[in-house]
Amino acid sequence: MTLTIGVDVGGTKVAGGVVDDLGVVLAQTRRETPADDPAGTRDTIVAVAAELAAAYPEAKAIGIGAAAWIDAAGATVLFAPNLAWRDEPVRDHVAKAVGLPTVLENDANVAAWAEFRYGAARHADDSMVMITVGTGIGGGIVINGGLWRGANGIAGELGHIQSVNDGHPCGCGRLGCLEQYASGNALVRFAQAGARQEPDRAAQLLDLAGGDPAAISGRMITEAARGGDSVARDAFAQIGYWLGVAMADLAQVFDPQVLVVGGGVIDAGELLMGPTERTYRDQLAQRGRFPVAEIRAAETGNTAGVLGAADLARRI
Ligand code: BGC
Ligand code: NA
Ligand code: ZN
Repeated sequence: MTLTIGVDVGGTKVAGGVVDDLGVVLAQTRRETPADDPAGTRDTIVAVAAELAAAYPEAKAIGIGAAAWIDAAGATVLFAPNLAWRDEPVRDHVAKAVGLPTVLENDANVAAWAEFRYGAARHADDSMVMITVGTGIGGGIVINGGLWRGANGIAGELGHIQSVNDGHPCGCGRLGCLEQYASGNALVRFAQAGARQEPDRAAQLLDLAGGDPAAISGRMITEAARGGDSVARDAFAQIGYWLGVAMADLAQVFDPQVLVVGGGVIDAGELLMGPTERTYRDQLAQRGRFPVAEIRAAETGNTAGVLGAADLARRI
C-alpha cells in the first residue's frame, strides 16, 4: 500500500487527508483558511500536511488542490479570481517545509480527477469533462485517460467562458463569464433580485431572510425552493439554464464519455440538475440523432479535493 497526502485549499477551510491506493481516506484534519492572507494560507497548508505526515511517516508525497490558476509545472499559483493569491511558489515552499515531494493543481482539475478515478466517471476510461458549481465555477478536463493541463497549465477554466456578451463583470477581468451566471454567487444574486422585484412570489424566501432581500443566502434559497417558493425555484432554473448551455457547448467541443456536475450547489439535487439536463438536451445541435454524453452528478462530495489531490501525488 502506498499512502499519500491530499490537501484541499478552499476559501473557508484547508482540509487534508491520508489516502491509500484504493482511495480509502485513513485520517483527516482541517483548519480555517486565513481570509485574504496568502502567506497565512501557505502556512496553514504546511501545518495540515505536516500534521498528517507526522502521523503517517510512510506517506510518500503531497498533492494540493487550490481554487487558483496554476502554472504548467504544477508549482506556482499564478492568479485566483476570488482570492488575494498572485504568483506564489506554493509547491516548493510546502515540499521544503514538510520534506516530501509535492504537486500543486487547480481545485476543479483535482475534483475532476477524483470523479474520473473514484466517482461518477469511474466507468469511463478515456474522457470526461466536469464543471464544479460553488462560490465560483471551476472546470476539469480528462482526455486520453489523463488530466488535460494545456500548454500553460490553465486549461479547463470553464467558469470563464463567456455566457453573456457584455454581461456581468467577473473577478477574472472579463464580462459575462459563466461564473457570473451559474455559480452559487449567481444563484444568490438572481434570488435577491427576484425577491426585490416580485416579493409576492418570494414569500418563503423573504420569511427565511427576515424580510431583507440582501440577507438571502444560498442555504435559504435551497430551503425555500424545496418548499415551492417560485423566486427560489426560478433562481435554480436560471443557473441550471446557463450550465446546460455551457455543457452542450462542451459536448460539441470534447465529445466526452461523461459530463459531471459537482461542487457544493449540487446538494440541491433535482432543483439544479433538472433544469441543467433539460437545457442541455434542448441545446444540443442535432439532438437525438446520435449518442452524446450523459450528465451525471458528482459522487465524491466534499472529499473530492483530498481524494483527487492524493491520487495526483501518487503519480509524481
Ligand atoms: C477559478 C478556478 C477555480 C474555480 C472554482 C474560478 O473562479 O478561476 O480556478 O477552479 O473558481 O474554485
Ligand atoms: Na480547472
Ligand atoms: Zn471570469
